[in-house]
Amino acid sequence: MQPRQPFLTDIQEIRKRARQHIDKGAVTEGYQANRETVLRLLNEALATEIVCVLRYKRHQFMAHGLAAQSVADEFAEHAAEEQSHADQIAKRITELGGEPDFNPEGILTRSHSEYVPGDSLTEMIKEDLVAERIAIESYSEIIRFLADKDPTSRRMMEEILAKEEEHAEDMLTLIQRIGKAGL
Ligand SMILES: [Fe+2]
Ligand SMILES: [Fe+2]
Repeated sequence: MQPRQPFLTDIQEIRKRARQHIDKGAVTEGYQANRETVLRLLNEALATEIVCVLRYKRHQFMAHGLAAQSVADEFAEHAAEEQSHADQIAKRITELGGEPDFNPEGILTRSHSEYVPGDSLTEMIKEDLVAERIAIESYSEIIRFLADKDPTSRRMMEEILAKEEEHAEDMLTLIQRIGKAGL
């Protein structure tokens, strides 16, 4: 009979290590990523989400007129989803023993996406599409960096990325619809 595959790390050793440094909570000695770098990247993603909430909120209230009502609803929905991303990321930062940075000063510098107010409906939607595309690029890079070193943060970022891709698709559909309607 084949001898049983040994567990990756001796279970007794894992139990012993888990009892040490209890103050570190979810961060064990087996944590493979560079925690400082992950915290910095997650705080950048948090800033990106906050900027996206603010931009979508402005667009929600600036989209006037009957024809713009469905667009305003879409902006409102996206703002709420970006807010929930910000919450998820902030929670993960605290799980990793870090502090989510909500200081308004510096949010724009940390954020990957920009805050462009946009005046016309088309301009607003275009800016949102650009911001989503920036988030898609930078989150993909964060995911590649996390790889198998921090699977929990990676999975969270993968779910958020999927949502940003949906958002980008929504904005593209809106641009096409508005183009056809000649608004
Ligand atoms: Fe988001
Ligand atoms: Fe988004």
